[in-house]
Amino acid sequence: MSIRIGDITPDFTAETTNGPIQFHDWIGDQWAFFFSHPADFTPVCTTEMGRTAQLAEQFAERNVKPIGLSTDSVDEHNKWIEDVNDTQNTVLKFPIVADADLKIAKMYDMIHPNESETAAVRSVFIIDPNKKVRLTLTYPMNVGRNFDEILRVIDALQLGDSKKIATPADWVPGQDVIIPPSVSDADAQKAFPQGFTTLRPYLRTVKL
Ligand code: BEZ
Repeated sequence: MSIRIGDITPDFTAETTNGPIQFHDWIGDQWAFFFSHPADFTPVCTTEMGRTAQLAEQFAERNVKPIGLSTDSVDEHNKWIEDVNDTQNTVLKFPIVADADLKIAKMYDMIHPNESETAAVRSVFIIDPNKKVRLTLTYPMNVGRNFDEILRVIDALQLGDSKKIATPADWVPGQDVIIPPSVSDADAQKAFPQGFTTLRPYLRTVKL
């Protein structure tokens, strides 16, 4: 099943390294960063798990709960976490879903059979507190993800929700943002009394 932006993320029950979960209940009223990796005890995955653990505070500041998945067992995950902590100099606390029967990986289209019949590719789902999928990303097995980009897109989504703006190419927090064309000039003047720049009628930028 392919999962698209705007879909309600499929619910599931699963065993994890932090105990059993019902996914929607586990998300609660927070955001989720749900990401798959091909296998435990592999090098790229070890660095990604370590990076996610190192960024625990940055995820928490954004009200985001990370949760990993691979098609391995809880026992394997737990043994591997010791290696992650040791080699990446961190303490991994977020849950990793055990999915040895591929039930969830298939539900989330994380198995790309022309790549592997049994291991998940590197999928990312950013899910909001309404359980709506807000971003999907798919990376190949031999390329580790950019976690600055994961945090950046979460910042852009959350700012967009609170200020009704869009963000330009390569935006990072603090830079000017875009007033969507759906907002009239009159409404933009009310929303942004500090003023805004009109480069074209459809391209207006504002400093927040
Ligand atoms: C890795 O994490 O290093 C990896 C896992 C599966 C295939 C290729 C690389």
